[in-house]
Amino acid sequence: MIETPVTHSKLILMGMMGSGKTTLARVVSSRVGVPYVDLDAYIESSSGLTIPEIFTQEGEDHFRDMEHQALQDVLSMEETLILALGGGTPCFERNTALFHPQDLTVYLRYSPDQLARHLADEVAHRPMLARDDRPLHLILSDLLAIRTPWYEQARIILDGSSDPEVEQHLLQIARDFFHSPTGHIST
Ligand code: S3P
Repeated sequence: MIETPVTHSKLILMGMMGSGKTTLARVVSSRVGVPYVDLDAYIESSSGLTIPEIFTQEGEDHFRDMEHQALQDVLSMEETLILALGGGTPCFERNTALFHPQDLTVYLRYSPDQLARHLADEVAHRPMLARDDRPLHLILSDLLAIRTPWYEQARIILDGSSDPEVEQHLLQIARDFFHSPTGHIST
């Protein structure tokens, strides 16, 4: 049987703000030798504005249009990549419709309390959090409740809340995905 190699596939990391998408993308990228793109950084470098500036000057709807365009750009690159999405990116049908069947989506799941701990010093830089003055874990819990059905469409769920080895597991998943000729994953 001739196996079809995985070409230009993307390992796509999704999850809430504070779930470590960017850090994990960077770490896995250097260990596996596959480049990574952080979607927020891509938006910032192509617009010349920071994410908080885009929200303040243009509003969330405009940010979501820019995010959609950025996702379209990155997913159409003829390159094998690790892609860290923004927290809200996979929560819109027009965005998930852009994923290709050969891409592998991974949800990094954490509880609202854990996310609140990770984000405690960063609220000012997170427009989705800075505009709400309720306690952080309540804001996160409401947002997570709305987003969970979207996140759980990922092909793999890594539960950071109960798994201290999440980085090792993601590394194994990435190795299997990028180095197997058919993109077979052993989870
Ligand atoms: C957002 C998350 C942010 C960024 C923007 C909106 C969200 O990305 O895209 O502030 O809606 O959850 P990170 O999850 O990388 O912080």
